[in-house]
Parts: sequence; structure tokens; C-alpha cells
Amino acid sequence: MREIERLDEMRAACAEARAAGGRLAFVPTMGFLHEGHLRLARLARERAPRVALSIFVNPLQFGPGEDYERYPRDAARDRGLAASAGVDLLWMPSVAEMYPGPPRVTVAPGAAGDVFEGAVRPGHFGGVLTVVLKLFEVVRPDVAVFGRKDVQQAALVRRMVTDLGLGVAIVVAPTVREADGLALSSRNVYLDAAARGRAVLLSRALGAGVERFRRGERRGDALVAAARAVLAAEPGIAVDYVACIEPGDFTAAATATDACVLALAARVGATRLIDNVVLGEGLEGDVRASG
Ligand code: PAF
Repeated sequence: MREIERLDEMRAACAEARAAGGRLAFVPTMGFLHEGHLRLARLARERAPRVALSIFVNPLQFGPGEDYERYPRDAARDRGLAASAGVDLLWMPSVAEMYPGPPRVTVAPGAAGDVFEGAVRPGHFGGVLTVVLKLFEVVRPDVAVFGRKDVQQAALVRRMVTDLGLGVAIVVAPTVREADGLALSSRNVYLDAAARGRAVLLSRALGAGVERFRRGERRGDALVAAARAVLAAEPGIAVDYVACIEPGDFTAAATATDACVLALAARVGATRLIDNVVLGEGLEGDVRASG
């Protein structure tokens, strides 16, 4: 595995990798890697003979008062994990090089970026799409792999690729979960023992919605209510939103179908977590961490 910091060096290394291997797959991350990221890297490896992975905690996608400064970082550990997952090019650009000045031109995600996560975190998806476009411009991947836990992000990246004609195939990989159902996230490290105990209710809430769906309920608001009831029982959890979502246009689904996504965001103590499930797949459609 080759480690790179500079943009020009990464651009050249990716061009070489494409010339040598024919195809290049890319996994953009913010680091503090966990099994979910490593699965993305392995999936990338199945799609292309060369894999690049970036680690960049992108200041542009954090709002005021969010956790940019304290976002967990551990470059030494990440290096070892990336190498073990078969990454060829590990890119850790600096903020100074990615943003030499405050960006004047950014990507506007459109209406689908202003709802659900975007409504609670104004400007978040503009920051995400801007950095993803910048990363894509340097790496020029044939395929890029994203996790389904960030389902709205994945949908917006797909839309950007289509609308701007970027010619990158987007693969979205199932969420990886702990044995009790908690979705893997770099932010889980913030949870103390009591909060970790409560956090399991997020996936249980999704499971309750799926259960209602399997028993024949198709009203989106009834599925949302089933999930909310699980979270309401725990005073240590503050819900930002629970929504039954049409995956195509990211609008609330009045009538749920197999393809709809039940998504939620909640603060467990001081830690904000997101999770979702595709109704037709249920939590079984996701992957369990090997532990
Ligand atoms: O999902 C993430 O880790 C980030 O949002 C991404 C895609 C790497 C952009 O900063």
C-alpha cells in the first residue's frame, strides 16, 4: 500500500494505477475506520484490480457546533486497517490543500438535500457533494463505493454523478451492524456504556417498523409511528426525525413499498446517530460485524 498526502502525487498515482490495472475503485471516508469501511474496501477490490481509499475529515460538511474538531482520528490505526483490506493507494490530504481558501464555488444538492438529514444539518450535503466532487476529480475512479447507512448521501452522490455526467459507477453497500443491531459508525466511540445500551433502540425502532410492514401495514405514517413508539419509551433518546422515504426522489412516502426506506436520526445523550432500513429487505438485508 502506498500512502500519499499531496493532491498532485495522488492524481499521478491514480493515473498510473488505471494504466496498470485498467480500472480503479475508490472508497472515500473520514477515517477512524471500522469493519463497515473495510467491507467497502473489499467490495471495491471485487469491482476493480486497484483500490484507492481517502481519509479526510471534511470541514465543509460540519455545521457550527457540530463535532468537526473532536471527530475521532487515528491515522496510525487506519493505515494498518486499510492495508489489511487490500487498499493500494491510501490518500490523506491536508485541509490546506483541499481548501486553500474558503470555497466560493460549491455543489448545490437541490431540494433532496434540504430534507431529513439536510433539514437538521443545513449545508451538510452541499459540503459532502463538494468534497466528493473534488475527490473524484483527483482520483477519477471508474467505480466508487458508499455505505447505505448514509442513505441520503448515497442517493445525492448518485444524482450528482448523473446530473453532472461524471461517469463514475456508484455502488452502495449494506450497513454493517453489531450483533445487537447497532449500525457501525465512527461516532459510536463517543457512546459511554449507558448510551451504548440505549443506542440499540435505534435499530429496534427500525425493526418495529419493518415488522408492521411485514404484517401488511402500508401507510407510511403508521410505520413511522411504530418506530417512534420504541424510541419514545427511552427518555435518554431525542429524536430528530423518523421518516418513511421514497428512495428515488427522497420525499416522504404516503404508501410504503418494498423499496422504501425507513430512516431515522436521534441523539443518544450527546451523540447523534443515524440509521435506516430498506423495508423489503429488513435488518436481515444488512450485514453483521464479525465481532
Ligand atoms: O461518508 C463519509 O464518510 C463522508 O461524508 C464522505 C463521503 C467521505 C465525504 O466527506
